Amino acid sequence: MKVVIVFDSVHGSTGEVAEAIAEEVRAGDDEAEVTDLRSSMPLDVVGDMMFVGSPTRSGRMTKRMAEFLENFVTGPWRGRRIVAFDTVGPLSKDAEKRDRTLKRIGNSPRTAAGTIQEALRRRGLAPWPEQMHLAVTGLWGPLAPDARDMARELARKHIDEARQELLMNAQLI
Ligand SMILES: Cc1cc2nc3c(=O)[nH]c(=O)nc-3n(C[C@H](O)[C@H](O)[C@H](O)COP(=O)(O)O)c2cc1C
Repeated sequence: MKVVIVFDSVHGSTGEVAEAIAEEVRAGDDEAEVTDLRSSMPLDVVGDMMFVGSPTRSGRMTKRMAEFLENFVTGPWRGRRIVAFDTVGPLSKDAEKRDRTLKRIGNSPRTAAGTIQEALRRRGLAPWPEQMHLAVTGLWGPLAPDARDMARELARKHIDEARQELLMNAQLI
């Protein structure tokens, strides 16, 4: 399976999350294609599933991410799993408090992941309804100590489920 990971980052934490997701993809012998929007703005990205992520800045995604989502070719992504992820903060350095805050944020429209989902829906796509939030402990980072592991765990679930979906769709044809 080919997994596409498209992300933007200002201070690096969202990039670290993207890296952790790519590590998890490769650990399962799948292919990961990582695009950092700071260095390229592709129009046609193709794969079996996609993770799209941005830092949350003033309750929304970055301008670069909005530009990507407005312009990329959507055709190949119909019926594919697309997961919106982001970084949020600053959250507590205490792991339990952080978990509670992440649960409270849930599926919020006022996060980067929420605005990514909205932009995807405007393009006629159906993003995965659950948002994936990872915490930073300061306004500019760093990533919370458990965030990389958390990102890998959440990514694993999506990768395995997406593989099942692909198999089921192939059987229906
Ligand atoms: C100007 C500014 C606005 C921010 N607004 C929010 C916000 O609305 N909600 C939030 O959870 N975090 C907010 N943050 C914290 C960012 O989420 C944090 O800097 C980001 O996750 C770091 O990711 P990056 O290193 O990939 O840029 C803001 C940070 C800055 C500098």
